[in-house]
Formats: sequence, C-alpha cells, structure tokens
Amino acid sequence: MTNFLDLRQYLAAVESHGELRHVSGAHWDLEMGAIVELVYREAKDPKPVMVFDDIPGFPRGFRTAFGMLASTWRLAKTLGLPEDEIAPMQLHHNWYRRQKEIRPLAPRIVSTGPVMENTVSGADIDLLKFPVPRFHEMDGGRYIGTAHAVIQKDPDTGWVNVGTYRVMVAGKDRLALHATPGKHGNIISNKYFAKGQVMPIAIVIGMDPVLWWLACQPDTPWGMSEYEAAGGISGEPLQLINGPFSGLPFPAHAEIVIEGECHPNEETDEGPFGEWSGYYANRGLKPVPEPVIRVKAIHYRNDPILTCSMPSVPPHTFTLMLAMADSVGIRRRLEEYGLPGVKGVWSNFSGSGGLFNVIALEQLYSGHALQAGILASQYSAEMGAFTVVVDDDIDPSNMDQVLWAMVTRTRLDRQMHVIPHCHTNSVNPAIPPDEKMQDGKKKMLTSARVVIDACRDLSWKEDWYPVARMSNELRDKTLQKWKTVLAGLI
Ligand SMILES: Cc1cc2nc3c(=O)[nH]c(=O)nc-3n(C[C@H](O)[C@H](O)[C@H](O)COP(=O)(O)O)c2cc1C
Repeated sequence: MTNFLDLRQYLAAVESHGELRHVSGAHWDLEMGAIVELVYREAKDPKPVMVFDDIPGFPRGFRTAFGMLASTWRLAKTLGLPEDEIAPMQLHHNWYRRQKEIRPLAPRIVSTGPVMENTVSGADIDLLKFPVPRFHEMDGGRYIGTAHAVIQKDPDTGWVNVGTYRVMVAGKDRLALHATPGKHGNIISNKYFAKGQVMPIAIVIGMDPVLWWLACQPDTPWGMSEYEAAGGISGEPLQLINGPFSGLPFPAHAEIVIEGECHPNEETDEGPFGEWSGYYANRGLKPVPEPVIRVKAIHYRNDPILTCSMPSVPPHTFTLMLAMADSVGIRRRLEEYGLPGVKGVWSNFSGSGGLFNVIALEQLYSGHALQAGILASQYSAEMGAFTVVVDDDIDPSNMDQVLWAMVTRTRLDRQMHVIPHCHTNSVNPAIPPDEKMQDGKKKMLTSARVVIDACRDLSWKEDWYPVARMSNELRDKTLQKWKTVLAGLI
C-alpha cells in the first residue's frame, strides 16, 4: 500500500527521508530550469526533489516542484516496493512481481475537495498567475504542463484517458497541446476533430505520484483506466470530482486543474521546446502547429504547487522513471507473448529511457535471442532505437557488462539486424526537420530499429572461451584474508 492522498503527503515523506531541497528566490525565466539541469546532470545520487518558493513576481507559497520520481527510493516508495532494495535490477524484479498482483480499484466520485479552494473563470482567467517556468534558453514559450496529466474522454466509448502530453501557455486563456501520433490523447483528439466536434479536456497538475507514474506509462493499454489502476496500486480508491465546466473527472486533491475545450481546425504555434531526447527534435527551432485549448476555468489549492519535469541531455529528471517503466513494460509484453527464458530487462538511462533496451535471456532454442530482440524492439511508441539481447550471466543494468558482451560475443555480420520502416514520429532527432512536414502538415514517419544478439552462439555455447574472472571461492577467500587492505575499497 502506498496510499498518499495527495502530492503534499508524498513530499512530506520525501522530505523526512532527506530527498527534498528547498530553493528560495529563483526566477521563472531560466533560473529554476538551470538549477535543476545542473543538479540532475552533475550532482551525486540520489538527486532531490527541488521545491522552489519565493519566486520573484509571485505570492509566497506559489511553488514549483521538480524531480518527483527521480530516485530509486522515491520509485520504491511510490510503487509500494521494499525500500531497502533499490538497486536498479532489484527495483525491476520487485515491480515486475508486484504489478502482476495489482487489481483495479474504481475511483470514488466526491462533490468537492481541496482543489476547489479557488476557482477562476471567464475574463478572470490568467494562466500566468502561476510561476510557469521557461526551462531552456531556446524554448519558444513557457510550459505549464510537463509533470501533469491530460484528461480526455473517448467520444465512442466514454473511456477516460489520463496521459502526460506537454502543454504550453499560448495566451492568457489559451494553451497548446502536444500529443504525438500514436498516443491515446492524439487518437482521441482526432476522433472529435474528424466528427467536427468540440473536445472537452482537463489538465491536472500536482497529483499523487502514483497517478503521475501511470499517466506517463506507455504500458497502459487503450481502454484501461489509469484512475482505477492508481487505486489498485495505492490500495485506496482515488477521489475524483466531475468537472463543472468539462464534465471530466479529476482528482479532488490535485494542486491545479485547468478545464477547457479544443475546437476542430484551431491550431497555434507550439515550441520549440528542449525535449527528453536531449534535442529540440520536433522541428528544430521552428514552432509546429498544435491544437489550441480554450481555457474555461482554473481550480487551484491555496499555495499551489506546480509540478514540473525538466528534460535535457540525459540524465534528466525523468530518465530513471522511464527506464524503470520501460524495463517492466517490455518484460511484461514478452511474457504475454509467451516467450520463455527472460531473466531481466533494463532500459538504459543514457538512452533516455526506451531507446537502449537490454534483455537478459537464458537461451533455450535456436533463434531465441533474435526472437526476443525483435519482439522487444517494437515496444516503444516512438523510436525504440536499440535492443540488445545478452546471456543471463550479464547484468542488463550494468553498461560495462553489456558493452563487454556486445563487443565480444556478437558476430556482427550475423547477429546485428536492422529492421526498417518501424513506427516513429516527430520526436526522432535523426530525421531532418524538413522531412517531418509536408504542405504545412505533419507527415507519417518511419525509421529503423536495431536488434543486436549479443549472446554466445547457442550451437557452441558450452565450449565457449573460458571467462577470465576469478571464481567466487577465490573471491571470498581473498576478501577474507586481505580485509584490512581492502577495507573501504570494496
Ligand atoms: C515528463 C514526460 C513528458 C512527456 N511529454 C510528452 C509529450 O509532450 N507528448 C507526448 O505525446 N508524449 C509525452 N510523453 C510520453 C507519454 O506520456 C507516454 O507515452 C504515455 O504513455 C502516454 O499515454 P498514453 O499511452 O495514454 O497515450 C511524456 C512523458 C513524460 C514522462
């Protein structure tokens, strides 16, 4: 049971664990972003949640918070996993086991909650009453939605999707929504627009961390309720309010909720924005037309906390979270396919999460490693650039070991495979900006994915060259005999 009623309870737990840092006086324009980028690229682990207050030009108490799920302990705490087993592969195995036991728990509809402490609507709406950051020097706008959830209802079935798709302030009461093709949010928008209908939409900012984890999960299938899944993980039903302006349900304990609507064919310039891959990869420094959200109302708690994610050259505030999510997501898909022998999966941080995935496999039959690699390579909704399959003597989260296997066990002419024409989209930095648009419209894009079978050839695996590493017995003996020499070193 994790059971945090809201973000505030969670931040209190994080602070008492020593993983929260308060910063006073940083400006919304580049300063908060620069501090967070510095900490997340250069500081020692675990990187803290950074809470900014006394932001110049804003009332004290109007805060921002970065890095909600950016440490292994914070992930374990959020997902209800043992807090003393937080090495990457321990987290992977524990979450892989726990998520199988979780059963959806329906949310409870309540009539009001703390998020309704303040409501502004009509001419009083001003999105910049919150300290919305400009994150990077070349960003084309201020982003209010980077660690948030977008709520939309499928017009055909009534299913409510909760997804994280970035949202830029495009005016006092206008936002731009960037949900890339293939994402549930994008599919739902297109359904309304194809019918010529107005789409109700709500943006939730500052929620309990379980719900945010789910909003970012590529592994939540179409039709599955993130609200019910969040209740299942927490062990308590989520409390939701039916929005008075949009009719959409949102958490009663959120920090800020924006209700609005999108009209067919109404677009505005969005971006550029420094993205999770470490580039301005959408169309370089050119903005892109995206759907407009006309804001109808903003609800917010007293002293609201605007949660943020700071993407940049990895590692950044959400690389670890994506690595963990993708690792277990890939393993689950392989299992659903019925593939035996998978001993672990890790999605490497430097690959930004999802772009360099390693599968540790006990090879059981010829072609097994390639089969695992090809299946896993199709997991990512956007790119999934490299999938490496290693034997199960390799720790997939240890890049030294993975690279060793790649360079010593792969017969490159036989064991490296390029799969052309797989799905990708405009986030892919390897595709030049001009190839992403045609006649002012976004183009359908594909790109290759690479599978590397870095396993020892099964036909002579048993006779493979002996590994030049000391035995466990010699290791133990040496540690025992030379403990004074080795003290503090190992
Ligand atoms: C911090 C963060 C920001 C994200 N921003 C976007 C975005 O702007 N657009 C997008 O399409 N996906 C974005 N994603 C990825 C989606 O949230 C993710 O693919 C999720 O699975 C989408 O939900 P869906 O499967 O219901 O479409 C982001 C993920 C994270 C962690």
